[in-house]
Amino acid sequence: MAQQYGDVFQIKLGSRNVVVLNGEDTIKQALIKKGTDFAGRPDFISFKLVSGGKSLAFGSYSNLWKAHRRIAQSTVRAFSTSNPQTKKAFEQHIISEIRELVKVFLKKTKQEKYFRPSQILTVATANIISALCFGKRYSYEDVEFKSVVGRNNQFTETVGAGSLVDVMPWLQSFPNPIKTMFGNFKNLNLEFFAFIEDKVTQHRATIKPGIIRDMTDAFILALDQGKRGTNGVLLGKEHVPPTVCDIFGASQDTLSTALQWIVLLLIRFPEMQTRLQQEVDNVVDRTRLPSIEDQPSLPYVMAFIYEAMRFSSFMPGTIPHSTTTDTSVNGYHIPKNTVIFINQWSVNHNAQKWANPGVFDPTRFVSKTGDLNKDLTNSVLIFSVGKRRCIGEELSKMQLFLYTAILAHQCNFIANPDEPSTLDSCYGLTLKPTPFSIAVTHRGSMDVMDSYVTDLQKADNSM
Ligand code: HEM
Repeated sequence: MAQQYGDVFQIKLGSRNVVVLNGEDTIKQALIKKGTDFAGRPDFISFKLVSGGKSLAFGSYSNLWKAHRRIAQSTVRAFSTSNPQTKKAFEQHIISEIRELVKVFLKKTKQEKYFRPSQILTVATANIISALCFGKRYSYEDVEFKSVVGRNNQFTETVGAGSLVDVMPWLQSFPNPIKTMFGNFKNLNLEFFAFIEDKVTQHRATIKPGIIRDMTDAFILALDQGKRGTNGVLLGKEHVPPTVCDIFGASQDTLSTALQWIVLLLIRFPEMQTRLQQEVDNVVDRTRLPSIEDQPSLPYVMAFIYEAMRFSSFMPGTIPHSTTTDTSVNGYHIPKNTVIFINQWSVNHNAQKWANPGVFDPTRFVSKTGDLNKDLTNSVLIFSVGKRRCIGEELSKMQLFLYTAILAHQCNFIANPDEPSTLDSCYGLTLKPTPFSIAVTHRGSMDVMDSYVTDLQKADNSM
């Protein structure tokens, strides 16, 4: 549509006018140059159901939102990427989880030969954020956890590009399939919020002065005392569960979708899998695992990850925005409270910027001298830009790097020859690959991973 109608066009969805912004220049003009004007969220009914109605991700632009975002962002960094020590601790969580994941992959291959990896990858990513939020991981067989994290598809299907009820509220007034779907969405949010509230209650009961065990403790300490703004108290203890809910919810579906794409691309392009393995083997010998310090020496691994994000554009749009004031972009007037869709996909598939954008080719990010082309990697748009830019970007990139490098170092991924070799996806807030199955074999033994985790446990016990 952007090719036909230009970078700014308007569509009518039910009762709402929606302006769609396309292309790098237009999107940056709106979200960066006129950041405040475009930083709102629509007053959609569905948005009010997320995180007990106090979501920072789905909440409107205000002083409360600014304070909320600041606390969430600094806490996420403090537990993941803010300095070398936190990075090391975060890396240890990730590597321990990858070891569990590889064990499950090998077991499934032994039992079923080819198996679907999507739910396993969902639990793996949920476990890492759970370790940060609650200091606890779950077994891959845990029924409660699987049901809480496994139903996220329904969430992203409803939020993706605005649910029908948001733009046609009267659909709620009589029985119809959309009303049923919306009812499921409501229940899903209530159940997820209850799961988080329960964890927060348990934390309050066991928290000890001077000891911050995890992000939930950090939020309790930061928010229980209340954050004041010029017009009185902005944030208080009632914001702890919504903040944890936002962090947990925002990371889970996005990261597991990213990993599904990475695994799919490994099996669809075996020659690239071999090149990844060769690069990792050249830098990291077989007696240790790849670590975050190896990242600058692994440009092809990084190129593969950026190309996976560009090619799949698995978050094709952002969460819908809205205008906070009368404004304009590219000379078009846009009234206050207009719903804005940001088309990230259009940036990643612009044929003027990317040669053959529909072709998966990581080498587009590697220069002639073999370095990663950082100007080009910065042009991939998947975490959005401006005031609403994702707060989990650094954490996600670190996680994706370790997953890709370690899985390439440790495993071979094999496609099921009985399945069509497609790269198709299903639509929602995130684009997921259509179901596919794989087999996984080890490139050696579990020894290096096992001894890494044993050493960690020994160090833990001696503290
Ligand atoms: C590959 C993984 C991820 C991708 C591609 C991604 C992408 C995005 C996008 C596109 C948005 C919407 C931005 C906008 O509306 O303009 C967003 C918002 C957000 N993300 Fe992420 N995200 C990822 C992982 C994470 C993680 C791991 C966390 C938490 C640690 C997180 C926390 C958030 C939050 C809190 C917001 C709301 C920001 C706001 O409204 O101010 N995300 N993310």
